[in-house]
Amino acid sequence: MSVTLEQIVSLAKRRGFVFPGSEIYGGLAGTFDYGPHGVALKNNLKALWWKRFVEERDDMYGVDASLIMPARVWEASGHTETFNDPLVSDAKTGERYRLDHVLEGAGIDPAGMSLEEMWSALQEKGLKTLAGNAYEQPTTFNLLFPVTMGASKDSATLAYLRGETAQGMFVNFKNIIDAYHPKLPFGMGQIGKAFRNEIAPREFVFRLRELEQMEVEYFVSPESWKASFEEWLGIMRSYAEEIGIPLEHLHEKEIGDEDRAHYSERTIDFEYDFPTGTKELWGLAYRTDYDLSRHGEYSGTPLVYIDEEKKEKVVPHVIEPSLGIERTMLAVLAAAYDEDELGGETRIVLRLQPKVAPVKAMVSPLLKNKPELVEKAKEVRMLLKKVHPAIAWDDNGNIGKRYRRQDEIGTPFCITIDFDTLGETPDLKDTVTLRHRDTGEQERLSIEDVAEKIRLALA
Ligand code: GAP
Repeated sequence: MSVTLEQIVSLAKRRGFVFPGSEIYGGLAGTFDYGPHGVALKNNLKALWWKRFVEERDDMYGVDASLIMPARVWEASGHTETFNDPLVSDAKTGERYRLDHVLEGAGIDPAGMSLEEMWSALQEKGLKTLAGNAYEQPTTFNLLFPVTMGASKDSATLAYLRGETAQGMFVNFKNIIDAYHPKLPFGMGQIGKAFRNEIAPREFVFRLRELEQMEVEYFVSPESWKASFEEWLGIMRSYAEEIGIPLEHLHEKEIGDEDRAHYSERTIDFEYDFPTGTKELWGLAYRTDYDLSRHGEYSGTPLVYIDEEKKEKVVPHVIEPSLGIERTMLAVLAAAYDEDELGGETRIVLRLQPKVAPVKAMVSPLLKNKPELVEKAKEVRMLLKKVHPAIAWDDNGNIGKRYRRQDEIGTPFCITIDFDTLGETPDLKDTVTLRHRDTGEQERLSIEDVAEKIRLALA
């Protein structure tokens, strides 16, 4: 079914996935807090990424670099100069808008337009602000978050919260070479926060000021970048399939010369059919030797690889798959969200991949006021926790309500312990009811068979 953003936002809040940041103080635009199910969902997405992009490969090195980096890093990377968004303001109220978004809202595609061209297009259309006023001359706005470090004003040092995790890897290139002596091609992988002072954070977690990225910087010899680019394209597609992003809603878009980031000679954006339209989910970029060369120049530490066979120094080129976690989560939720009829009632169900689901199974005693049922159910839960720790307990309300709650958070299996489990019908002793989320169908199985089903679903 096609889901609206409002339906996702509402479910996410109601079921403890995502809350507005600092909500009791009125919220802070572009920030969100994550509840238990959101944390679990994000952790699962990260763990599957880490396994596929880093752990399972012999040529990858994981790092976790500082979030605060000196201004010089961002001068070298080109971000202080070019990491800008076009900005226009309301001439009367001073309210700020992103110029490209204003044009998009008026049906004009700003792709490839310079600041001046966008401004002319806005004027030609005679566009007004939301308050009905004229726009003021455009400017550009730098997205980096500055921080001053140090106790006194005089000795304070200007630094920035990192605008992308990538730079934390480039500045550690030499450390990895010195510590591990890898052979080309090899890469570094990192998961972590990045910060962007977006003019117009919007569409729930789509455009944030505090975000999390999963990035690889893969170092290759200059002549082999094309093969590597193709390889990482395939890996990104496989990851999408694994986490339940349907390929028919994922579109690979070649980004034109005028629209690529300053460091890129080729970029493919993976666009997803989000509830608010088809937009960038992830990016794959060929960053050439731009970053290593610039950091070599700005830091005075050459960032080179010594080719032992050819006896020469090379500045490796870089292929970069870059994935935002929150957009990934949003795509996964949008793809999984469904409403259907079960037992004559409408229900909301998240058809999440079991590997991604925050809770793998819920165990429940049929009646909570029967100690023998509760005790047996607890025993079953402990047993299933050996298969996976995310086995929930729910004894609130009637069994139908418990199932509905689990459907809404995407729990693939519900297990109910009843009097037959205890041996009331001797043939059924130590069997339980296993309910399947997607169909609502139930089957009677031994506890061992249930454990095996869960194990297989997570394999
Ligand atoms: N290192 C390359 C880089 O940062 P990017 O296209 O600016 O490239 C990569 O960002 C990914 O990070 C995007 O494809 C998206 O998934 C995510 N992302 C970027 N800006 C974001 C924002 N303001 N809010 C949420 N996610 C964002």
